[in-house]
Amino acid sequence: MPPLEGLIRMKTEQNRTTEGGTKMKGVIVMCLGELVRNNFGQDKWEAALEKAGVKKDTIFLSTSNVDDVTVLKVIGSLCDILNISLVQAADAFGDYWVNTFAPKIYGAYYEGIKTAKEFLLNMDKVHVQTAAIVPDSRPPRFDYEWKNDKTLIMGYKSHRGLIDIMVGLVKGVGKYYNEDLKVTKLGDDKVEIIFS
Ligand code: HEM
Repeated sequence: MPPLEGLIRMKTEQNRTTEGGTKMKGVIVMCLGELVRNNFGQDKWEAALEKAGVKKDTIFLSTSNVDDVTVLKVIGSLCDILNISLVQAADAFGDYWVNTFAPKIYGAYYEGIKTAKEFLLNMDKVHVQTAAIVPDSRPPRFDYEWKNDKTLIMGYKSHRGLIDIMVGLVKGVGKYYNEDLKVTKLGDDKVEIIFS
């Protein structure tokens, strides 16, 4: 089963047994929409929303709460419509989020940070802070373990299982700081990052 279908099924099953499931900040879908509209056109975005069972004129605000399942379904629809894999979608999203979208609205988190290493080491704190105002959001958490002075193992803790998106985001950080990072997924909850 493709990973995304697995994720959607897992979340759908979780939602049947728990109250309502969890939500993500609308800012993630807002960024995805901007990326798709700018690079592929409004029609592709609307088609992806409709295929995911969402009204095509839905406006996502950064502060809205969007069900995790809806976010995953929109990503899945985009992969189908644009004929790309989940990894390609995750890389495109990570690049766009870190290099285009977040600098516009979360500029403060970039201020005074000069390297990819510093930026990544700050990410656990950033996620706790940005998600704090959404009552039922559960941000991913990260931990850090140095294998040697150039190799960082970044642990990913989230019930969402979006490790491919994490890899795409880390690659985006390398691009932002113009550093040649080697980024490898080590499993569902770990990424290895070798700094040059
Ligand atoms: C300025 C940069 C960043 C900001 C402001 C930011 C903020 C956010 C916010 C607000 C969410 C939604 C969380 C929720 O509603 O529960 C999110 C999700 C996520 N972020 Fe970031 N993020 C940034 C960069 C990164 C980077 C560099 C990584 C990778 C190390 C990362 C990994 C993720 C992942 C994987 C998710 C999906 C949610 C999940 O897996 O549970 N983010 N981020």
